[in-house]
Amino acid sequence: MNFKIAAIAGDGIGPEIVREARKVLDKIGKEYGHTFTYEELLMGGCSIDAYGEPLTDETLEKAKKCDSVLLGAVGGNVGQSSWYQLEPDKRPEAGLLKIRKGLELYANIRPAVLFDELSGACPLKPELTEGGFDFVVMRELTGGLYFGERKTVEENGVVKAIDTLTYDENEIRRIAKWGFDVAMKRNKKVCSVDKANVLDSSRLWRKVVREVAKDYPEVELSDMLVDNCAMQLVRDPKQFDVILTENMFGDILSDEASMVTGSIGMLASASLGAGSLGLYEPSHGSAPDIAGQDKANPIATILSAAMMLRYSFDLEEEADAVENAVKQVLKDGYRTVDIMSEGKTQVGTVQMGDLICENIVTVHSNKQKKATQEREEKS
Ligand code: IPM
Ligand code: MG
Repeated sequence: MNFKIAAIAGDGIGPEIVREARKVLDKIGKEYGHTFTYEELLMGGCSIDAYGEPLTDETLEKAKKCDSVLLGAVGGNVGQSSWYQLEPDKRPEAGLLKIRKGLELYANIRPAVLFDELSGACPLKPELTEGGFDFVVMRELTGGLYFGERKTVEENGVVKAIDTLTYDENEIRRIAKWGFDVAMKRNKKVCSVDKANVLDSSRLWRKVVREVAKDYPEVELSDMLVDNCAMQLVRDPKQFDVILTENMFGDILSDEASMVTGSIGMLASASLGAGSLGLYEPSHGSAPDIAGQDKANPIATILSAAMMLRYSFDLEEEADAVENAVKQVLKDGYRTVDIMSEGKTQVGTVQMGDLICENIVTVHSNKQKKATQEREEKS
């Protein structure tokens, strides 16, 4: 099959990690008979430098015409870069918000997985994480405080800033459905996180989520207040399967969730909407301090590409092949500097990408070998 991917490398380490993810996708294409073509687009600081704004309407239109979007990271060093002297809506991150809204990607899935091989990096006590944990944060991405009306005014000589948190029932219903659908493919548990003891928007959230739950009798639903959830994530992360929450809470909790895995350089993310087009990006930022030094861990972006294969292109086997190749490389003891530990072999960004590609061949040809063997045994 043929797929057209918008490749938005972005800033900082973005170009290096997207290059490695493309390398892996091309390897998958070669092994499994698909063609991936890329439309390279600018977003973030590099777009400000080229066009004076972080995402132009033309670029957004081009992205809409692709089958999916692969993103590295946007943004620079806040203290140093001139991008941050611009008005807030002209800064690199505004491009990210504009593309999420413009492509109507309202469902953001961020997995938090404790990889067996990297369990030593987890900052929690071993007794809390024994047996590992594997949950996802399902974050609403195009509503709430991020997109509500905001202004700064002066009243009687006092400056006042206003941000508005709005949700309507339809916005809540569609993300809740995503949460339950994903739970059905996992361990069938949804924990809906809100602040219903204070906020009206949260009370509506809770009500609508409970309504949606009626269509999913197999899924166990619980409600949790966001402050308690922040605590439970470090007290007992194993209790979670799908954490379903609104935009701002999801922003905060997903960072916390990634930290407890101890390996933010490994965590992928997918932003989806009603159609098959999605935006796939690592959960980490653009790390300008290590850009261009072959130090960045490309695995989160490569695993994001795997999510693209699964969620946008429906290529389940190919997605598995990428994920298995990553696991194998870790098993073989290869590490980028961020996940390095004693006795392991340290590699750079490029070599990590190469190793994952090599293992895709192995995984796939092992499968073929097995299938041939089974056929021969039968005949
Ligand atoms: C994220 C980031 C963004 C967000 C920023 C860069 C605008 O923190 O993707 O979590 O807050 O959504
Ligand atoms: Mg964030």
